[in-house]
Amino acid sequence: KALSLIGVPTDIGAGHRGASMGPEALRVANLASKLERRGFEVIDHGNLQGPVNPWQPPQDGYRHLPQVVAWNEAVHTAVYTELAAGRVPVMLGGDHCLAIGSISAVARHCREQGKKLRVLWLDAHADFNTADVTPSGNIHGMPVACLCGNGPQALVEVGGHVPATTPDVFRQIGIRSVDEGEKSLVREAQVSIFDMRRIDEVGMKRTMEEALADVDENTHLHVSFDVDFLDPTIAPGVGTTVRGGPNYREAQLCMEMIADTGRVSSLDIVELNPAFDKRNQTARLAVDLVESLFGKSTLIR
Ligand code: ARG
Ligand code: MN
Ligand code: MN
Ligand code: MN
Repeated sequence: KALSLIGVPTDIGAGHRGASMGPEALRVANLASKLERRGFEVIDHGNLQGPVNPWQPPQDGYRHLPQVVAWNEAVHTAVYTELAAGRVPVMLGGDHCLAIGSISAVARHCREQGKKLRVLWLDAHADFNTADVTPSGNIHGMPVACLCGNGPQALVEVGGHVPATTPDVFRQIGIRSVDEGEKSLVREAQVSIFDMRRIDEVGMKRTMEEALADVDENTHLHVSFDVDFLDPTIAPGVGTTVRGGPNYREAQLCMEMIADTGRVSSLDIVELNPAFDKRNQTARLAVDLVESLFGKSTLIR
């Protein structure tokens, strides 16, 4: 199976500049050659293009909304095209707003192919904010809500199917920061959240068994890997660190158990911010974990 790397150099949805340098940092950390060593054909399509970051304050609860729409339309088209060609799209982000474009395309592909969609959302944050409750106006805090039809019309309509998907397809892992108003939204939508307290209590093994329980041979598994999922002591190169995330071993087990399903069919690697990193260590860690996600193991492969 061929992997298609798609650079999405944007920090348009974030509250800090620099995630736009993420795609290059992942390339410098040798993502392509490491995946080739896993036995995949890897095609690096280079970077998508979109509006520059005008660095403006939020308007009506949204920061940079027209620019976020433009980027996501480009992402949707690119991801849909790769899926239709039978390849596995890998987004090199870029901030997490790009998941609106990628997951709307994956959902469309699944509808057309009669596949069951499952999204593993690895993140410190639920990213379920709306204009009414967001503390920041940053759209990278809103992609899950937008995908479920709760957001500005132009974003909810990316990909043309409203809503793009529904809350029940998501399994959120590693969550430890949910904003005040966001809490009632995730509760009402009944988003399945394996927060850090739950991981502390039952461990990563049981967490992942439960999160992957109904993945079957007809499932398209999309992984949306926000690098701030990881504990900031091992992954400082992100804009929105939250202490108390999975450590290196827990993160490896998480990726290895996802790989064991054999169903990973698309991936976002987001929120990597080289401006906060040291010697590209967070990019190198992300690449190490993505190798495990695509099947690297100590004794077998
Ligand atoms: N919940 C905060 C907000 O909405 C932070 C969101 C961070 N999201 C992310 N993808 N890093 O502003
Ligand atoms: Mn397919
Ligand atoms: Mn996050
Ligand atoms: Mn996120």
